[in-house]
Order: sequence, then structure tokens, then C-alpha cells
Amino acid sequence: MKKIIMTVVVLSGVLFAQNAEELIDTNGCLACHAVASKKAAPAFAGIGKRNKRFEGSDAKATIMNAIKNGSKGKYPMFADSAMPAFKNLSQEDLSTLADYILAQSSKAKGRGMGQGMGMGRGMQ
Ligand code: HEC
Repeated sequence: MKKIIMTVVVLSGVLFAQNAEELIDTNGCLACHAVASKKAAPAFAGIGKRNKRFEGSDAKATIMNAIKNGSKGKYPMFADSAMPAFKNLSQEDLSTLADYILAQSSKAKGRGMGQGMGMGRGMQ
């Protein structure tokens, strides 16, 4: 019996507590984003850096909200496209993703918005 319970606990950990990279993978974020370089959308590193700088203590909430509800027009370089809404994600998933994105900010290059989000070397 103990063994069965253990197995269930381990399995549910795998199925429900996805880490940020798994969430990014299963939700197709990398179709548009890369971690440290510009793609069809700003790099996660640049997003983390920008939000830390301009939103301060609201950075995490702003990022969670943008993933959940989408975003358009914040990054002039990407004015022609938009961030789709991911209504399927739980608050916990959004929180995991926001923490991950904020943690990438040290990988941002340059100091301005454009530079920070554009000049990476395509690590993915
Ligand atoms: C169809 C392309 C596309 C996909 C897929 C996509 N994004 Fe985005 N994302 C964008 C674009 C374009 C922007 C810039 C929006 C803007 O200028 O306001 C953006 C912006 C963002 C921002 C910045 C919001 C802000 O307020 O600074 C975050 C965070 C983000 N995306 C996270 C994600 C995550 C996490 C996923 C996967 C769950 C994802 N994106 C999937 C295109 C995409």
C-alpha cells in the first residue's frame, strides 16, 4: 500500500507541478520567444529586465497578467504582432512562469529596452 501511495505522489508531482521549462515547452511559447535573443517576440531575458525596471514590485503581477490575458503594443519592435492570451494556465503555472522570466533578466544584453531584447546569441 505504501508503495502505491508513493507512486501516486510521485506521478502527480510530474503531472501537475510542471516546472517553468516544461510549461514553456508544452504551451508553445518558444514558437515566438527565445530566452536570451529576439525572435518573433521579445526575449524572456529582456522582458524580465524591462518589467523589473519599470514595474518594480509589480513586475511579477504584470508578467502573470500579460501571459494570462495577452499583450499588445508594449514593445514597439513587435508592434505588428501580439502576445496571445493563455487562459488555460493556473495561477500557480503563471507564477512559475513569471518567476522564471524574471530570473532570466541577468541574461539580457545592453541597457536599453531594444538592446536588451535583441542582441542575444540565440541560445534556446
Ligand atoms: C504567437 C506568438 C507568441 C506566443 C506563442 C507567446 N508569446 Fe509572449 N509575446 C509575444 C509578443 C509579440 C509579445 C510582445 C507584446 C507587446 O508588445 O505588448 C509578447 C510578450 C510577452 C510577455 C511580456 C509582457 C509584458 O508585460 O512585458 C511575456 C511575459 C510573455 N510574452 C510570455 C509568454 C509565455 C510565458 C508564453 C507561453 C505560455 C508566450 N509568451 C507565448 C508573442 C508570443
